[in-house]
Amino acid sequence: MLDHILQKADLTGELTITEIISLLELEEKKDLDRLFDCAYRIKTRHVGRTVWFRGLVEFSNICSKDCYYCGIRRSNKEVQRFALPEKAIIESAVWSWKAGYGSAVLQSGERSDPEFIAMIERVLREIKRLTNNELGITLCLGEQIEETYRRWFDAGAHRYLLRIETSNRDLYAKLHPADHSYDRRIECLDLLRKTGYQVGTGVMIGLPMQTIADLADDLMFFKRQDIDMIGMGPYIYHSTTPLMQYRREWEIPPGQLLKLGLKMIALARILMRDINIAATTALQALEDDGREQGLLAGANVIMPNTTDTQYRSSYQLYENKPCIDENASMCQDCLSRRIKSIGETPGISAWGDSPHFAARRKQTV
Ligand code: 5AD
Ligand code: FES
Repeated sequence: MLDHILQKADLTGELTITEIISLLELEEKKDLDRLFDCAYRIKTRHVGRTVWFRGLVEFSNICSKDCYYCGIRRSNKEVQRFALPEKAIIESAVWSWKAGYGSAVLQSGERSDPEFIAMIERVLREIKRLTNNELGITLCLGEQIEETYRRWFDAGAHRYLLRIETSNRDLYAKLHPADHSYDRRIECLDLLRKTGYQVGTGVMIGLPMQTIADLADDLMFFKRQDIDMIGMGPYIYHSTTPLMQYRREWEIPPGQLLKLGLKMIALARILMRDINIAATTALQALEDDGREQGLLAGANVIMPNTTDTQYRSSYQLYENKPCIDENASMCQDCLSRRIKSIGETPGISAWGDSPHFAARRKQTV
């Protein structure tokens, strides 16, 4: 049976929802290895064995949202709030360019006040200027109105990550306060695409009340949305958040959660062969070499942290985040070594766009 499904996966990249669920339910090591090998073969064929770096700047934990799972949610009074000075954000991005990363990700808590919007616009223009337009820039700044997306795009951002968190509308409602809207999030994904961004989305894996069927639906959702990039990772309980009440009943042990995250990556690669898929830091929170395992299961992007060490401990969406005490150069050396150790090549000084985006653009012009 597994033989048949994997052969079909390899040849066509089309699987039924029942087949996806049966692969997500695999537990035996030998079966998992076959699934991951299949995804890795597909990855090699369609996007190669180059790992693209995105230098991640987590520049502020000030947030107007109140998601029940997140450590930096508005209502959490125990977090010390910080915002990097504009100059420091720019310096971090320029550091990525000099380090040969080719691309940076600017991420922060969600804000949509005019000062914030204008600040991001200035920062984008300055980064583009200082890097001769060479550094690619991804934004991860949440839900905004169309005009804001447009302003930031015109100022030089070309990719945007906005996770749907879960494609199950009912589960979404349980994980967020009533004023956080699933439909609004979908609308934002549409606006981003319309504006011209390469669009990424993703989900958290192992959420309370989430089923394997939900995860299979998440994969179908990505496919339907025709997205260019995926950034998804395990959900990790944070002690000062409301979702903590579900921990005893719902927490998945780390080893099993890592496996589930890897299966999701492998299936995403099988179903969407030419997109970029990130091996997210949360994988490493579960096992030291979690991100390398992600690359071997089909991911092709890594987002090393370039935030100044002094701010790292305040940006904890989940606890036990790795590399809190490291600095950007340490992360760079460590990652290059890790990537070479599994026989992959670090991509240098190129944006590393997904072939999917190029194909999508060709269709629309
Ligand atoms: N565990 C894992 N991921 C989390 N995020 C927020 N809180 C957690 C958590 N406790 C993720 C969300 C958000 C991204 C920036 O971080 O998916 O979109
Ligand atoms: Fe929504 Fe942090 S408050 S992800």
